[in-house]
Amino acid sequence: MEKIFITGCCGYIGSHTCVELLNAGYEIIGLDNFSNSKPIVLDKIKEITGKDIKFYEGDMLDKELLNKIFIENEIDCVIDFAAFKSVGDSVSKPIEYYINNVSSVLTLLETMKNNKVKKLIFSSSATVYGTPEKVPITEDCRIGGTTNPYGTSKLYVEGILQDLYKSDNEWDICIFRYFNPVGAHPSGLIGEDPNGVPANLMPYIAKVATKELEYLSVFGADYDTPDGTGVRDYIHIVDLAKAHVKGVEKLLKESNGLFIYNLGTGKGYSVLDMINAFEKVNSVKVPYKITARRAGDIAKCYADSSLASKELNWCATLTLEDMCKDAYNYARKEIVNEKN
Ligand code: NAD
Ligand code: UFG
Repeated sequence: MEKIFITGCCGYIGSHTCVELLNAGYEIIGLDNFSNSKPIVLDKIKEITGKDIKFYEGDMLDKELLNKIFIENEIDCVIDFAAFKSVGDSVSKPIEYYINNVSSVLTLLETMKNNKVKKLIFSSSATVYGTPEKVPITEDCRIGGTTNPYGTSKLYVEGILQDLYKSDNEWDICIFRYFNPVGAHPSGLIGEDPNGVPANLMPYIAKVATKELEYLSVFGADYDTPDGTGVRDYIHIVDLAKAHVKGVEKLLKESNGLFIYNLGTGKGYSVLDMINAFEKVNSVKVPYKITARRAGDIAKCYADSSLASKELNWCATLTLEDMCKDAYNYARKEIVNEKN
């Protein structure tokens, strides 16, 4: 079976993608430096799938290590998840963000080129659309106008990948622009576990529901949306992970191209929709207060994912209820784990 090298394999999206690729029969070589994850994730992946991945602990900026990984393993395709992802931190630490999110990709690409591996899936983000010119957003919408170094780092890497493909069209590159991945594996063994107070909506709601936090601040109720709160395209993490299996299949079977796909459900939900759904599905209260807008937020962002559906034969099937149920299930299990 083909060997897939996954950077950032222990993170939120990486761990769920490992599970889906292992279940589909692929062999996985993984790299992580645990800057935003824990080694226990490797045991959890094994518990879910019954399979091991070949793991290297280290940094994607480490040229020698990367080269060793390519020499020791006959890698067929790479998925690059390793990056820093906090919008707020990126504003205060731009140098660290550009090194980790851009320089590291150059190190990876150079090593891939030297080892004649030219198939790559890159994790980009809906953030590259800045303030979207229309919703639902199609892949040909204007990109740019990002408001923080995190978003700009994704924009830069997309540009680098375009230049690389222009220089040598033997590359097969798939850029996935994720919308808002949420939820957890239904087993509750892996999920999103941010350090400290969560910056994103769903992990924050889950911590209010488990009473670790007192209430949710709803950032603005005066947007041009049906109930005035921000609208986003939330996608279940397992659906998102499965798109990577389809992406790998495409790159391994078809030849040569640079493909860009939005990964979302195509549905927009407001912050109040999310609170209501979470309360109803889990029979819990999520106290909230309407507060000021958060700087840099936009009113509406949701995907037209019909290109992924057509070309990858993929679409999201899990519902908002599944997202809320699995997020809460994971949050409760985490509390038990932390106590033990
Ligand atoms: P995450 O922080 O949970 O996972 C990233 C993993 O990469 C972590 O395990 C971290 O330890 C590791 N890592 C970071 N820098 C590394 C380095 N230099 N060398 C080795 N390992 C390193 O993040 P995630 O949510 O799983 O996101 C994965 C990718 O998807 C990132 O590129 C992120 O920017 C992108 N993305 C995420 C979202 C989202 O909402 N989660 C949205 C759009 C795009
Ligand atoms: N929100 C609140 N209260 C909170 C947190 C969020 O009201 O405590 C609101 C936001 O204002 C927004 C919505 O909930 O309207 C979603 O916010 P998130 O922070 O969960 O997600 P964003 O859409 O702002 O950003 C996310 C990632 C970015 C990524 C972007 C597009 O955090 O990294 O999706 O993919 F770039």
